[in-house]
Amino acid sequence: MSFLGPKSRKIIELDKELISSSLTRVSDLVFERLEGMNVWDADNKKYLDFTAGVAVANCGHSNPEIIQAIKKQLEKGIHLGFSDFYSELPLLVCRELKPLLPANLNNFFFSNSGTEAVEAMYKCARWHSNRTWFIAFEGAFHGRTLGSLSLTKSKPVQKERFEPFMPVKHVPYAYCYRCDKGSYPDCGIGCLNDFEKQLKELKGRVAGVIIEMIQGENGYIVPPKEFIKGIRKLCSEHQVLLCDDEVQAGCFRTGKFLASEHFKIETDLVALSKALGNGMPIGLTIANKKTMDWPPGSHANTMGGNLVACASALATLKYLKKEKLGDNALKIGKIILKELSELQEKSKFLGDIRGIGLMIGVELVKSKKTKEFGIAERDALITKALEKGLVLLPAGTSGFRICPPLIIKKEEALKGLEIIGDCLKEIEKKK
Ligand SMILES: Cc1ncc(COP(=O)(O)O)c(C=O)c1O
Repeated sequence: MSFLGPKSRKIIELDKELISSSLTRVSDLVFERLEGMNVWDADNKKYLDFTAGVAVANCGHSNPEIIQAIKKQLEKGIHLGFSDFYSELPLLVCRELKPLLPANLNNFFFSNSGTEAVEAMYKCARWHSNRTWFIAFEGAFHGRTLGSLSLTKSKPVQKERFEPFMPVKHVPYAYCYRCDKGSYPDCGIGCLNDFEKQLKELKGRVAGVIIEMIQGENGYIVPPKEFIKGIRKLCSEHQVLLCDDEVQAGCFRTGKFLASEHFKIETDLVALSKALGNGMPIGLTIANKKTMDWPPGSHANTMGGNLVACASALATLKYLKKEKLGDNALKIGKIILKELSELQEKSKFLGDIRGIGLMIGVELVKSKKTKEFGIAERDALITKALEKGLVLLPAGTSGFRICPPLIIKKEEALKGLEIIGDCLKEIEKKK
């Protein structure tokens, strides 16, 4: 806590008294003002942000064009109820989205968060198929409400004491850096066999398969293309709906609007949230009209289609397209990966580096040979980076993620990497 100013310290003390102990605070940053690529804390210390508020502020914090759209809508009205009445603004969001989506995705359900977007996807697949089972993946994070939590299998603490869960089977994800089936491609994508076996065991009873195209909370894990393509093929063969959780990877974070585009596949249902509102709470579940065939009353909510959230989403989508932020994500992502691989050669702790666009994961290990998780090293790095003015977030057991706003410039990326390099040197000196 040494670098913290007095106002920040006071706020943290009050927080400890008032706020639920279930939250996972990873560092002592007390944010007060946000702008573009930067965050200022309660004592006015400035930081460079490599988190975008957990992959949310893709257009940059407090983006003036989005703020203007929100202000305009605030003066017109905030909420009446899109589940009960009609309104044009949510439809404009759908219209703006449609050219960014495969043609089969043409029906929309609005909610307020990632977990709600996943819940709707899960319930819709169960309703449409009239089947009960789901298959999900080890390491997956799909949210924390009980339906989504049943699909999640990330950290044990997230599920402990919350049983019973929905009928879900988890099978291995293609986490090639830590796989006991041999190294890729010699492994023959053995994890696909586990998936197929599970599908066969539950023959005729599986409603859907839910997957993150790049696992987010588990460490920004990029699977081989054949893994995702194989899952698509098997889902089609077994007439099982493929549900794509793009809550973290969507909205151009990986350079493409949907991460599934990198794998050249189409999915049956998609969940979006986080960056869609650039900070305003919004969730969206998308499917084909024939799949979203549930009757009135089977699923609805109070706040979905909220006018201010929709005004923000509309302005966000326009900004992402106008500024070609997907292209910038790809360009800067390549620079970051190249710099990181140079750092990796010099560092004994950088075990694995992976990512697409600006969804980049760095996994720390105690030794590159044993691959023992470098949890203390990762935690020390995040704390040191914060002291030096860079905000980072963990991902996975001993990794951290680089997911800055997509407006990031090369100089800002290099500055952040310089801080990461300095922190690594300091940690290595101590060991
Ligand atoms: C892939 C994925 N799905 C679902 C969620 C849940 O979103 P929320 O925290 O908005 O409920 C998250 C959150 O990190 C996520 O990364």
